[in-house]
Amino acid sequence: MHQEHIVFILLIITIILLILKLFIQSKKLHKLSSQFDEIKNQTKLNEKSVKTETYLSRFLPKIEYEEVKISSEESHPINKKTIELDVVDDKKIQANNTKSILENLLNAGIECKHECGGNARCSTCRIIVLEGIENCLPRNLAETELAKKKSFSEEIRLACQTYSSGNLKLRRLVLDKQDIETAVNEGVAHNAIPKREEKLAILFCDIRSFTNFSEKNYPYDVIHMLNRYFNEIGKEIDENSGYIDKYMGDGIMVLFGLNPKKGNPSVHAIQAGLGILNSLENINSYLRKNFHIEFKIGIGIDYGNVLIGEIGYKLKMQFTAIGDTVNMASRIEGMTKKTHSNFLISDSTYQSVKDLGLFEFGKKFRTEIRGKSGLYVLHEVLQKSGN
Ligand code: FES
Repeated sequence: MHQEHIVFILLIITIILLILKLFIQSKKLHKLSSQFDEIKNQTKLNEKSVKTETYLSRFLPKIEYEEVKISSEESHPINKKTIELDVVDDKKIQANNTKSILENLLNAGIECKHECGGNARCSTCRIIVLEGIENCLPRNLAETELAKKKSFSEEIRLACQTYSSGNLKLRRLVLDKQDIETAVNEGVAHNAIPKREEKLAILFCDIRSFTNFSEKNYPYDVIHMLNRYFNEIGKEIDENSGYIDKYMGDGIMVLFGLNPKKGNPSVHAIQAGLGILNSLENINSYLRKNFHIEFKIGIGIDYGNVLIGEIGYKLKMQFTAIGDTVNMASRIEGMTKKTHSNFLISDSTYQSVKDLGLFEFGKKFRTEIRGKSGLYVLHEVLQKSGN
């Protein structure tokens, strides 16, 4: 073979090797960049939940869990006796008080999830004690730790750690594969938020004819104005210990009274509502100057029982309140336009503040409310007393 041929072949081999090397490197780079994106997204997600938690934690009272150190005698009864366990949705069984609730259920052929094998790690054996909680022996240290992490209320117990000296009526809380996943993941990202019933004041506030404004202006201006508006009214909400639950376009839902130690929720909500109405002038003077329009808003408040807790898909859990009081507050806000009033409150809200002499009220409406039967009394809020 000629020398030129050998040189040519070597050159071709070198080029192929070079191309191969470049190809492998580009693959590696691609992999690295997607890993980086993933880390970035995860960080964003974590930052988001930390931020949410920090904001929310300002409003929730801390639940104190007694760090009881109990002897095995206190957590495991020695004197054997028969007790009755009434398992809702299954059967009543005669049980042995020296065995845990979980052991008793399993011995009686009642299914009770126990993913960690009864070691106080998974919480899938959780039960709610409907009657006889006073018969349950105190939580041991392992159960106390897990209850704290999962924010369990007093009546939620781990069947694998709980012994009872008397009869109980109970319900199992983890029933299928999806329940197991939810139970195990709960409290992993950050401390779980308690699920409970609370008496709160719920405020809804909405900009009237906002669609009109958004249709006639550039997206930049619409978002900018909304942020200016929320920033302005947010200060009033903040000053009155209101928790901004969510934004719904130009609407906002706010909870008052998450921390019962902070005073009358209705007073805070009404004060915030009046503050919002006053602060509207700041936004409107800007709007008049730059857009030749002004915002008109409606505010509605109801006061009553709601359920609070985190709901949603595991990657996007959201703390919120649900219940009739929430629906009612939204409907009351909807009535402001019809009654030509800026600010209406329900009768229960009115009753909780009327004797305090803090506010002046205007017209009283006896009206039907969409989606509700019967007539409801609504009160117009005018201003703080003495203004
Ligand atoms: S079985 Fe896992 S905590 Fe009870």
